[in-house]
Parts: sequence; C-alpha cells; structure tokens
Amino acid sequence: MKILILGANGFIGNALCKKLLENENIEVYALDLSNDKLDHSFGNSRFHFVEGDININHEWIEYHIRKCDIIIPLVAIATPNVYVTDPLRVFQLDFEANLEIVKMVAKYHKRLIFPSTSETYGMCEDAVFNEYTSNLVLGPINKCRWIYSASKQLLDRVIFAYAEKNDLTCTIFRPFNWIGPRLDSMKEAQLGNGRVVTIFLYNLINGKDIVLVDGGHQRRSFTYLDDGIDALIKIIKHDNQMLNKKIFNIGNPNNDISIKELAHLMIKTYNEFSNDIYRGKIVTKSQNDFYGDGYEDIPIRVPDIQEAKKKLNWEPKYDISQSIKKTITSYLKDEGYLK
Ligand code: UGA
Repeated sequence: MKILILGANGFIGNALCKKLLENENIEVYALDLSNDKLDHSFGNSRFHFVEGDININHEWIEYHIRKCDIIIPLVAIATPNVYVTDPLRVFQLDFEANLEIVKMVAKYHKRLIFPSTSETYGMCEDAVFNEYTSNLVLGPINKCRWIYSASKQLLDRVIFAYAEKNDLTCTIFRPFNWIGPRLDSMKEAQLGNGRVVTIFLYNLINGKDIVLVDGGHQRRSFTYLDDGIDALIKIIKHDNQMLNKKIFNIGNPNNDISIKELAHLMIKTYNEFSNDIYRGKIVTKSQNDFYGDGYEDIPIRVPDIQEAKKKLNWEPKYDISQSIKKTITSYLKDEGYLK
C-alpha cells in the first residue's frame, strides 16, 4: 500500500509516519516544508520524503496522487490566534490549497482520508456532538475565529459531494483537542501561536503567569495522540468502500475538563516531574484582551464516539492525567528539564 502524506512533519503527520512504517507492506511518500520532527523515519527505505510546499510543488503532488492508494492532506494552520490575526492566510492554506489537492484526488479517483476538525461543530448546544445529527453553529462574520471552522466545513461538504458522484472515496475524521509530544514548539507557544496545553507549558517552564481566558470555565475533551493515531491506522487498514462517506469524531469524552482544571492539573504534574517548581500564578483575562475583537469561544466540546466504536472497533485508552503527564514529560525531556 502506498500512502501520500502532505504535511508529514506536523504534529499528527510525524506520529502517523512513524506508526505506518512499522508495517512492512506500507510505503510512505511524504512532503513538508521542514523535517525536524521526522528523525524516527529517516533511514527507513520505505520512507520517501521531499521538502516542499503544497502551494508550489503541484507536479510532484499530482504525480504522487496518481501513484498512491491513499492521500492524507494534513497541511493546515490550526492555532486560534492565527484565525484572528491572519484569517486570509488560514483561508488560503486550509481551504484554497487543500481544495486543489481534493480536486486532484477526484481526478484520479483515489481514496482521501481528510482531517476535518472538532471546530466544525462551533458553538453547537448539544451535550455531545454527533457526526450526523449535530448542527454546525458558527458566529457572525466579524468574528474571524470562525474562518478555520468554515473553511474546514466547506471542504468536508465539497469532498462529500465528490464522493456522492463517485469521483473519489473519502473518510473524514475530526480530532478533538489531540495533545502529545511535538504538538506546538515552545517558540510558537511563546508567540501565542500554540494551543492551550503548549502555551501553559511554556508558562510553566518560564515561570510566566498562566492566563485563563474569561476565567477558564470553557471545557475541552483532550485526547492523547497515540489514541488518535490508533484510530487513523484503523481507518487506513479498513475496507475502503465500507468507510466511504463516513465521518468519525476521534476524541475522548471521558477527558472533558474545564481550562481552569487543566491549569491546576498541569501545575501539579509539572511540579511532580520537572527539576524545578512553578513560581508563576494563575490570572484571568477577557477574550478581547487575550485574542482581540475577532475571537469568540466555544463553551463545551464533547465528542460522540459511538460511530468510531462500532465501525472501527476503536476507543481511547489514555485518561486525562496520563495524557497530560505523557505530554508534559515529553517536552521536559526535550528541553532538558525532566527530573
Ligand atoms: C482548537 C484549534 O482550533 C485546533 O487546534 C483544532 O482544530 C481544535 O480546536 C482541536 O484541537 O480540537 P481550541 O480548543 O479553542 O481550538 O484551542 P486552544 O488554543 O487549545 O484553546 C482551548 C481553550 O483554552 C480556549 O477556550 C482558549 O480560550 C483557552 N486558553 C487558551 C486559555 O484560557 N489560556 C491560554 O493561554 C490559551
């Protein structure tokens, strides 16, 4: 089986390459702007990496879409700060550039495994979000935060429409706050261009105050990377036609906690495993002060995972304490702060 991964050096991409290459009959063709997270895969004769940009390397991409059985386009900006500060860059990369890829997959009638997002559900008021029954609820246009969600949602719809015409087969997955090693770099987190877990970790390591946006009452269901990758491997190995036009929430409903609880858990874990003690404090800021006018938050986000349980025979294994501990210790090890 030949698999094309665009954005192979990202958080999900690098972990997926590593896992796929454990399988003797899988060849991975990979493209990314950089390769600093792929040390584990270089040297494997079934790993073929090219440094490149999905906005530029059209011929290479088309050739490999034609050559491969499965295409997994993982290139996207996925950090809320950028949705607000540079919405057009998000639209260009997450929508326009990916649309070109989708069209090529349709041209060659291949299998597409596409990363949608938990953000497509937006401010849906359901207690748990279901792939087939929940409404996708976004805020007004002046709240630029929704450009990511809207871009991904429209691509989901375009992909589905191509599949309805039998131009491609597709499986769409929606990660719910995946966390783990190599999520965002500490440099990105320092600039505010990370996700909450890496921003808090940067604060912990550097003794900076932890900021709870609007008091941190909003909730997320954090999912450990290995659980997410396990689900992806099951999708990849599953019968192609059976999973055509299927959407899967890949998240851990048991790990639903508030951001305030997350902050306390991270401080406790940091103090236990770091060779230092956290000396900062927890403060609170309004959404406007932290992100600017274009931001709007999502109060709850719990995945319904019945579909994944039934059709993939998958369920997450790592509870919230294990997920946070494994994530924090991986960063402390890289930064040289592990006790
Ligand atoms: C994320 C991102 O959009 C994507 O990574 C992804 O598609 C999706 O959700 C997902 O991973 O499922 P969000 O969960 O809002 O969105 O992003 P975070 O930056 O991780 O923020 C989580 C919460 O923490 C938000 O309510 C935010 O306001 C809060 N926060 C963030 C703080 O309270 N303090 C901070 O320093 C940073």
